[in-house]
Amino acid sequence: MISLSKKYLTSIEDLSEDEILNLITRAIEFKRNKEGNSNKKALDGKTLALMFEKPSTRTRLSFETAMFQLGGNTIYLNANDLQVSRGESMQDTAKTISLYVDCLVARVYSHDTIVKLAQNCKIPVINGLSDLYHPCQVLADLMTILEHKKSFKGLTLAWVGDGNNVCNDLLIGSAKMGINIKAAIPRGYEPPVEILKIVTHESKLRETDFDIVREPIDAVNNADIVVTDTFVSIGKENEDDKRRSIFIPKYQVNGKLMGSSKDNAIFMHCLPAKRGEEVTSDVIDGNKSVVWDEAENRLHVQKSLLVSLLD
Ligand code: CP
Ligand code: NVA
Repeated sequence: MISLSKKYLTSIEDLSEDEILNLITRAIEFKRNKEGNSNKKALDGKTLALMFEKPSTRTRLSFETAMFQLGGNTIYLNANDLQVSRGESMQDTAKTISLYVDCLVARVYSHDTIVKLAQNCKIPVINGLSDLYHPCQVLADLMTILEHKKSFKGLTLAWVGDGNNVCNDLLIGSAKMGINIKAAIPRGYEPPVEILKIVTHESKLRETDFDIVREPIDAVNNADIVVTDTFVSIGKENEDDKRRSIFIPKYQVNGKLMGSSKDNAIFMHCLPAKRGEEVTSDVIDGNKSVVWDEAENRLHVQKSLLVSLLD
């Protein structure tokens, strides 16, 4: 049994290095199905609510499947169908949800909503994506890195593109696990200063490198891991044209850029991908790509997380 010091997950920052490693180790056991049939009842009688303000394919599917396979139940709540859409406060919504279910996953526009939910729910709250963080994705990403690279130490991760929600948590999580980081991000699109301070602090503690560069080649050259994400996250659609003009083609991960990474490098993307924008099909479908492992690992690592928070 892994006990977590915090009974919620708003950002990967809520977890220590040991807690991340323990969650991943348990997830790898789930993946190998080592624990056999005993898992089928691990969350017997437990209900997970999933409140979504934004669309999702992987997050909803993987959480619903995880609960089903562990013997629990789920309730999907489209935020538009709740009274919150007619003005009920998020605080009162949180208190109400706590009366009926055992855990809440929320996908929201503003990270403040996650904070309000976590403060007002008597049950564990898991961030299923906010404008600032995507911790479940990053747990799956770190699991995928460990599976492919066997150890975190000495690796260099290159982030290419927008300093967005996935980037924020991936930089924090990578720094905590002792991975060197080179992030190629255009000026004005970097993570918020407070997040850069956390990454710098975690990197210093472990004597690893953390650099922000402007040229993608300076990040990807000789990297072990190359990661990108959409240039236009959900909620940024009104900046679509401006973002495209800044990011494309310079920050696109294509065969030429990927060719400068190590021969045994891996390519990662949380998905959904906009092929031809942040990544080309030859890269995402190429032999360095591990994007389907990342997507699958959402299921295993979220089982590990749910059992730790609920069992
Ligand atoms: N990666 C991820 O969170 O995917 P969805 O938006 O489909 O849930
Ligand atoms: N950065 C993306 C991630 C989607 C899973 C977004 O927020 O839309």
